[in-house]
Amino acid sequence: MSLSKNNASTKESNYHDSVLFNEVLKGLNIKSGGIYVDATLGRCGHTQGILNHLDSLGRVIGFDQDIDAIKYAEINFSDPQLELIHSNFSNLNDELNKINLIGKVDGVLMDLGISSPQIDNADRGFSFNKDGLLDMRMDQSQRLTATEWLKETSEKEIADTLYQYGEEKRSRIIASTIKEYQKNSEIKTTLELANLISTVVKPGKNKHPATRSFQAIRIAINDELIMLSEALNQTIDALDKGGRLAVISFHSIEDRIVKQFIQKHSRPKQIPKGLPIMMNDTQPCLLKDLGKVKPSNEEIKINRRSRSAILRIAEKC
Ligand SMILES: C[S@@+](CC[C@H](N)C(=O)[O-])C[C@H]1O[C@@H](n2cnc3c(N)ncnc32)[C@H](O)[C@@H]1O
Repeated sequence: MSLSKNNASTKESNYHDSVLFNEVLKGLNIKSGGIYVDATLGRCGHTQGILNHLDSLGRVIGFDQDIDAIKYAEINFSDPQLELIHSNFSNLNDELNKINLIGKVDGVLMDLGISSPQIDNADRGFSFNKDGLLDMRMDQSQRLTATEWLKETSEKEIADTLYQYGEEKRSRIIASTIKEYQKNSEIKTTLELANLISTVVKPGKNKHPATRSFQAIRIAINDELIMLSEALNQTIDALDKGGRLAVISFHSIEDRIVKQFIQKHSRPKQIPKGLPIMMNDTQPCLLKDLGKVKPSNEEIKINRRSRSAILRIAEKC
């Protein structure tokens, strides 16, 4: 393995600038012979960083639900210490069980959301700035594209999704505009949807009118919040004692889930006053909350995408 941090690919097609790179490596407290799971491989930026800290006994298990990420890693990272798993990270423990690693992992990293290549490649349908088929699936084998989802979903459900996952105040008018448009035509492309939303939403400060709606539809299509909760719950069994969990989120809804998960498992069980204490009630907490880190101003200047990132770290007790 010889590629260095963040130059693992060409800027045009595969470039992804890893967010909070040094902070993640520090947060994972990497042991040279340790076993690490990168649950969101992307373009292997963080994985490369972890591999650089390992000796010949160390291993990285890399998950991604996007086959393009796995193929990229296969071609560019033929490292015997890196094992690739094409799967949703919600299957974390099923996959770790197959390779006998439950309870043996020294660190799990989740760098949530989409990678730059996914946004930059218009055909993936994530960008409201580039015209492409309105797809938005991270896992290309999944059933519904965004076009199909918008067609099959009721006006009310679209509005609720935009409101809940995008915090979009104009959710109802956007949903009714979408349904009105669909009486004559399917919404086939990203710009078709972005332009439609722009007819009823004013641009925000430095924000495209479709930003919130695209985020919400993407979260819904990929079932992102449920997958995140399922995976977080599994990390407790996956980690060895002293193992670290590091999660980078990019919006408040995701961060709330991560924060509440860590808080729930790092507080001793509340016992109502006056009740007799049973053995189960005195169980120690499962995680130690090691706090959160945000990108420096320097990082935000170099990589604008990092501006909304929050890294949370916890340690298995
Ligand atoms: C922000 S990128 C990760 C970038 C990576 N840390 C790097 O430095 O190159 C997120 C990646 O996670 C993948 N991903 C998102 N949600 C996932 C899930 N539930 N299961 C598996 N992979 C997921 C996406 O397909 C994408 O490739």
